[in-house]
Amino acid sequence: MVNVDSLIDLDKAVQSKKIFWDQEVYDQEMENIFARSWLFLTHESQIPEPGDFFTTFMGEDPIIVARQQDGSIKAFINSCTHRGNQVCHADSGNTRSFVCSYHGWAFGLDGSLAGVPLEAEVYYNQLDKDSMSLREVAQVDSYRGFVFGCFDTETPPLAEWLGEMAWYMDSWANTGGGAELIGTPMKTILKCNWKVPTENFIGDGYHITWTHIAALQIIGGPLGEAFGSGELPPLEDMGAQITTRHGHGFGVIWDVGHAIHRNPQNYVEFQQQTLPEVIEKQGEWGGKMYTGHWNASLFPNCSFLYGTNTFKIWHPKGPHEIEVWTWSLVQKNMSPELKREIQKEAIMSFGTAGTLESDDGENMETCTRTNRGFQTRKGSMNASMGLGVEGRHPELPGVVGSNFIGETSYRGFYRFWDEMMRAASWDDIKKNDATWVDRWLGEGAVSKLPSSQAA
Ligand code: FES
Ligand SMILES: [Fe+2]
Repeated sequence: MVNVDSLIDLDKAVQSKKIFWDQEVYDQEMENIFARSWLFLTHESQIPEPGDFFTTFMGEDPIIVARQQDGSIKAFINSCTHRGNQVCHADSGNTRSFVCSYHGWAFGLDGSLAGVPLEAEVYYNQLDKDSMSLREVAQVDSYRGFVFGCFDTETPPLAEWLGEMAWYMDSWANTGGGAELIGTPMKTILKCNWKVPTENFIGDGYHITWTHIAALQIIGGPLGEAFGSGELPPLEDMGAQITTRHGHGFGVIWDVGHAIHRNPQNYVEFQQQTLPEVIEKQGEWGGKMYTGHWNASLFPNCSFLYGTNTFKIWHPKGPHEIEVWTWSLVQKNMSPELKREIQKEAIMSFGTAGTLESDDGENMETCTRTNRGFQTRKGSMNASMGLGVEGRHPELPGVVGSNFIGETSYRGFYRFWDEMMRAASWDDIKKNDATWVDRWLGEGAVSKLPSSQAA
C-alpha cells in the first residue's frame, strides 16, 4: 500500500509529483479507484438496437457493452474464458454472438458460452459450459442515456454516485429531447498520466487565456473574444466553479453557451427555444447553467465541455499513457444541420488534430514526463488557487468557488481521490457522505461568494 499521507496535503492543497509518475500509485488507483467507481461505457444512442455492441475499457480491462434482446444493456470482460484471447475485435456493430478467433468458442449476446467446436469429440461432453460465461460487469446502469459500469457490488447506485452533479447535468441532458453522442469516437494516444487531463477539464479556467490564446484569436466566438485578447472582463461576474460529492465538478462561464461556434445562429436559436423548458424544470439557476459554457469531469476519468460540445474518456494505459476517445455531444431535437455544424466544430477544436486539443496535449505530456526525474518526483504541485474563497450557496448544491478561474474543482477531485486511495471499504467512504462539506469548509462556514452569484 502506498503512503497516502506522503502524497497529498488537503489543507494546503498540494500533491506530490509522484502521483503523475509512480507505478505503485497507479496500481493502487486501479485497485482502489477504478475497480470501485462507476466508469463511463457509452451512450445509449450508440447502441440503440438489440444486438448492437460497443467495445471499450474500464481502467485497462477490455469490455464489450451489448444491447440485449429485451432492450437491457449488459457488459462483459472482452477476454475468452478458454485461453484468454480477445473475443470481440470490432469497435462496434450488431451481432447475435461473439466468436473467439482462436479456437472458435461462441458466446451469446448475454455472455453465456453457447458453442464449443468439437465439444463431444474432444471434451467428451464434460465441459461445464454454464460456469464459463464471459465475466459480467457487476453493475451496469444509465443516467439520461449515459451508460456506466462498475465492478464493485458495494458501490452505491449510479444516481447516488452522480448525486448533485446529475442536477447540474440535467440542465442540458434533460432538455431538447435529451443529450446524445454522435459519430464513432476519435481516438488518440497521449503520453500523459490519466489525472492530468481530468484535472484540467474539471477546473482549469486559468490556462485558457495563456495556453489557448493564439488559437482563440483565430477561432473567435464569445470565448475567443473573452480570452483571445488577454484582457479579461471582471472575473467575479464571469462564472463559478462547482464540485459535488464523489469528486465530480465543473467550471461554468455564464452566457457564452455558443462558446467557439463560428456560425452560432442555429445554436443560439435552439438554446433560446429550449431555455423555457429548463427554467420550468430547474428554475433560474438551471437556466443559467444551460446558457453557460462548461468544462467538467466526472470522477475518475470522463470529461466534457458543454457549449464546445465535446465528450471524452481518458483510458489509462499505465501511469504515463492514456488513450483519449472523443465524441461530439448534441441534443436529440437539434436539426441534422445543427448537429453536423457542432460535430465539425468539435473535430476542429478537440478532435485528434484539433487546435485546442493540440495546445493541451503538449502540456499534459510534459506535466507527466517532467516528473520522471528521481529528484523532481520529491517535489510537490500546488492547487490552492481560491482556497478559502469558496463555500455553500443558498441554491446551488455542492461546494461553490467564487470565481470561474480557481482550483476549487481540483480540490474536490483530489479530496475524493484521497478518500478512495485510503478507504478499505465503501463503509469508510459512505460515513463521510453527510459531512464532506463541513470537513472541507469547516462547520457552519459562511459562503464568501460575490454578490453577483447570490441567489
Ligand atoms: S482462446 Fe478463445 S476459443 Fe480458445
Ligand atoms: Fe485547454
